[in-house]
Amino acid sequence: MWGLKPKYQLAILALLVLAVTVALTWSLLSHLEFAILMGSLGTGLVAVWMLGLVRGAWRQASQLDEAVPRFVALSGTGAGSSFPAGPSPRPGPSPRPGPSSWSGSVSAISSAPRARAGGAPGSRRPSRKRDERVALAADATVSLGDERRESGIDEVFAALDRQLVGLAPVKKKVEEIASLLLVDRVRQQFGLTAPRPNLHMCFTGEPGTGKTTMALQMGDLLHRLGYLEKGHVVHAMRDDLVGQFIGHTAPKTKRVIEEAFGGVLFIDEAYYLYRASDSKDYGQECIDILMQVMENDRDKLVVILAGYKDRMEEFFQSNPGMSSRVAHHLDFAPYRLDELVAIGKAMLGEASYYLSDSAETALRDYLTMAMDQPRFANARSVRNELEQARLRHAHRLAADADRSWSKDDLMRIEAADIFPTPAFEL
Ligand SMILES: Nc1ncnc2c1ncn2[C@@H]1O[C@H](COP(=O)(O)OP(=O)(O)O)[C@@H](O)[C@H]1O
Ligand SMILES: [Mg+2]
Repeated sequence: MWGLKPKYQLAILALLVLAVTVALTWSLLSHLEFAILMGSLGTGLVAVWMLGLVRGAWRQASQLDEAVPRFVALSGTGAGSSFPAGPSPRPGPSPRPGPSSWSGSVSAISSAPRARAGGAPGSRRPSRKRDERVALAADATVSLGDERRESGIDEVFAALDRQLVGLAPVKKKVEEIASLLLVDRVRQQFGLTAPRPNLHMCFTGEPGTGKTTMALQMGDLLHRLGYLEKGHVVHAMRDDLVGQFIGHTAPKTKRVIEEAFGGVLFIDEAYYLYRASDSKDYGQECIDILMQVMENDRDKLVVILAGYKDRMEEFFQSNPGMSSRVAHHLDFAPYRLDELVAIGKAMLGEASYYLSDSAETALRDYLTMAMDQPRFANARSVRNELEQARLRHAHRLAADADRSWSKDDLMRIEAADIFPTPAFEL
């Protein structure tokens, strides 16, 4: 009917029937009867609507308990992607959390609920804290394999392998940290007390080398091992932490720290907190608060400082107090050409695409050229180029509207879909 979708046709039909019914009852019934009929009809409709509202609110409330925000982006952290895997933080500034014990005037923070590594989306494996576990007799024995299985950390390592191709030295370091916490857990069961290990970290590396992705998995890992209560990650940059006027910085920093309690505070490009050249800068105030929290509130959060390696080293030289509070340094080396190609293939595989032989050569040529560009961002650039390839692939197929395409055609990226983008577009 008039080229309208069936649901609109139905709506028009229903309205017509309603109009005819109203007209008929108006002419057949007395005014009083008509008023009573319409009144009860209206009341019925309002009751149904309110019932729907109550049901919706109930559902939302019960979902809130399960949906733990995995990644809270206080500032933009790069483009999202239609390819699976990797963090997709919601870009743009978000409002802040509700009233805090530190600062009076704060509004609610919005956060992007994410699937946890491994497991079903939104599912949280309950972790048992160090002191909540069953005590063991002095002559008992334990298997670290059982402990590992019980904690569920293998799911995190599986997710890491899926999401991050290569990065063997970084993954080894993460394994070491996990082992430390596993042994710490079983020692606790025997009543062997030791100070809580310091897990503040520094992730150095160029953009797109997997630092944020690793931070997300780290939060999950530390949660499963009972070290962090929630395991979410709050991503912050200088502007989220440092104020522009006197008296602004402390509440700003404390608000972000409070948001991160129970999880990881990931400070990207941490060296921008400190501006040696500007004596009026408030960055030092923020650094002082951070150092205090890193020392005194170790049981509440893990701070990860991230950025380029050389700049982080300079930052630590100017702030030895900060350097001494960071226990683990993980260096994310820039990817070699072969690794970038492997990453690209893995990304495509996750999305059920693959490269033809000639497309692989084209991708290699493209990356060889792109790697020399100043704004090249390692795996992120690969992801972006493959997004473009996917667009070109779709456009190529759609352009030949009458041709029949097979399942394989729908999956195969050809060389024509990957062409070197002019350098200025990188
Ligand atoms: N080793 C890797 N294997 C697969 N994908 C990767 C790898 N390293 C990074 N990526 C992807 O590249 C993108 C950028 O990674 P990200 O963790 O944000 O890097 P960084 O924080 O170092 O800038 C993400 O989509 C991520 O999934
Ligand atoms: Mg990042």
